[in-house]
Formats: sequence, C-alpha cells, structure tokens
Amino acid sequence: MSKTITFPNGREVLKLGQGTWRMGEDDNKRHDEIEALRTGIDNGLTLIDTAEMYAEGKAEEVVGDAIKHVDRDDLFLVSKVYPTNAGEERMFDSCEKTLQRMGVDELDLYLLHWPGNVPLQETVDCFEELKRQGKIRDWGVSNFDLENMQELLSLRNGENCQTNQVLYHLASRGIEVVLHDYMKENNIPIMAYCPIIGQEPDLKDKVYNSPIINNIAENKGISIVQLLLAFVMHQEQMTAIPKAGSSEHVLQNRKALDIELTDEEINLLNEAFPAPEKRVPLRIQ
Ligand SMILES: NC(=O)c1ccc[n+]([C@@H]2O[C@H](COP(=O)([O-])OP(=O)(O)OC[C@H]3O[C@@H](n4cnc5c(N)ncnc54)[C@H](OP(=O)(O)O)[C@@H]3O)[C@@H](O)[C@H]2O)c1
Repeated sequence: MSKTITFPNGREVLKLGQGTWRMGEDDNKRHDEIEALRTGIDNGLTLIDTAEMYAEGKAEEVVGDAIKHVDRDDLFLVSKVYPTNAGEERMFDSCEKTLQRMGVDELDLYLLHWPGNVPLQETVDCFEELKRQGKIRDWGVSNFDLENMQELLSLRNGENCQTNQVLYHLASRGIEVVLHDYMKENNIPIMAYCPIIGQEPDLKDKVYNSPIINNIAENKGISIVQLLLAFVMHQEQMTAIPKAGSSEHVLQNRKALDIELTDEEINLLNEAFPAPEKRVPLRIQ
C-alpha cells in the first residue's frame, strides 16, 4: 500500500492528515488543540483541513496559532468556502479572511464545502482567479456526488479540480459503488472525512462492539481507531483526515500509517461491514 497520494498538480502528501471540525469552539480546549496540531506536524502530518464554517472562523485561527513557527513550505493547508460565499460577490473576501485568520499568504487547496446555488462555472472561475492572484495554489470540492463531479468536469477549467472531500469510513462505504471509481478514472484523489466515525454515535457503537473488529484489532495489537484509519488508508488514492483534540490521540493515529492490512483481514472487514451492492446517495455530515 502506498503511504502517499498524488494530486493532479503533482504534489504528494501522506495518506494521513489532520481535521479541525469542532476546534476553536471552546477556549478551554484551545491549548490542547494547538498542541495536538503541532504534534501532528512534528510527526509528518502536514496536511491540515479546516473551513470558514468551523466555529465560524475560529478553527482557522487555531490552525494559524499552531503553524506560527512552522516553515510554510512544510505545510499543506486546506480550507473550505461556504457555498453561499462561493461566487464573484463574496468569495474573494471569504478567502482573504481565511488567509488572515490562518496567518498565511496562500492556501494549498481551497474547496467548495458542498454544492450550492451559485452556478458552478462562476465558482470555478473565481477559484481560477484566486490562483492567478496567488491566494490559492489549487482548488477542489467537497460532498460532490457522481453527477456533481460529471458536471464539474464538463466545465471550463473543471479538470483543474484536485480533490473531492467526502464522508467515508468502514461502516459507510457507498462511494465504493461508483464515485470512487469515477474519481480514480479521472485521477482525482478522495479526502475521506469522518474516517473514525466521529459524528455517528450509533454506527460507532456498532463497529466498536463488533466481535470481528475487536478480534482483528486484538490480534494485531492495535486499537479500533487505528484499524479504522488503516482501512481508509488501504484504499487507493485516498487520504484520511481524522480530527484529534489531544497530542496523545494524534500520536496514536500517526501509528496507523505504518499498519498494513492483510488480504485475510480485509476479507473479514468486508464480511462484517460490506460496501452496499447498489448505488446509494452520497452521505453528508
Ligand atoms: N467536508 C465536509 O463536509 C466535512 C464534514 C465533516 C468533517 N470534515 C473534516 O473531516 C475531519 C474529520 O471528521 P470528524 O472530525 O467529523 O470525525 P472523525 O475524525 O472521524 O472523528 C473525530 C473524533 O474522534 C476522536 N478521536 C480522534 N483520535 C482518536 C483516538 N486516537 N482515540 C479515540 N478517539 C479519537 C476525536 O476526539 P478528540 O477530539 O478527543 O481527540 C473526535 O471526537 C473534520 O475534523 C473536518 O476537518 C469535513
């Protein structure tokens, strides 16, 4: 299994990054969140995913504090624009505010957070203008299902899209039916969000209480979180962006990069939590 993904622009990053949803919401947690992100960066997790939506900009500020003394070239910074801001009128201002909150001159990737009502061609044109202005290196999308991707790739400069960030984890494998194949055919990697089932307590309970899952983790001497991350990273051209609010969790997650799953283990995982047989609508958190 490759430990990296390569974007269409040729840039290569580790298959494990760091998410930031729910960061910046509680001042009492801020110190730990900054430390967690720094620990990740020190251990090679240089892709950081955030959004103007997260804590209404405060997560971007946490990222800004965490990266203050880090060489900008060592980072791969991703943020997302609200769909309502993703047009000529507001996108340039949104991007500027994001850059200010993060204390950087340029983002590595700027994503449309989910499909909205602004015509997609207008959004793509704004992304391309931001590239020309040196505010973003490249751009991508999030929560795009097959038809959204097909529309995007039919537009002027649509082929410049670098990623589609979507929900994917062991117990939610709908994208395996057509979307992931379509992305691979077009050489666009997936960024898997909620890789350790962060936002679905019921599903999480089901996975964490599964005897098969517990057996595999125990036999391998790893935690269930690590097993879930290893499963996502086992997929081709897919990076996982778990959010961890403590250095301890980040270090545990980092170890998942070195875990190889055998064919037998993958078969067992498939048996316990199979991908659906037919296409299902893309799930969104
Ligand atoms: N594009 C989108 O629409 C979208 C939607 C959702 C998420 N995202 C992105 O994807 C990222 C990841 O998704 P997510 O945050 O929703 O869910 P997640 O990464 O699957 O799960 C996060 C949860 O897992 C816990 N955790 C992390 N490491 C752990 C460990 N080693 N042991 C035990 N628990 C651990 C965290 O707790 P602690 O905080 O206590 O460590 C947190 O409660 C987000 O942060 C965000 O950047 C994007």
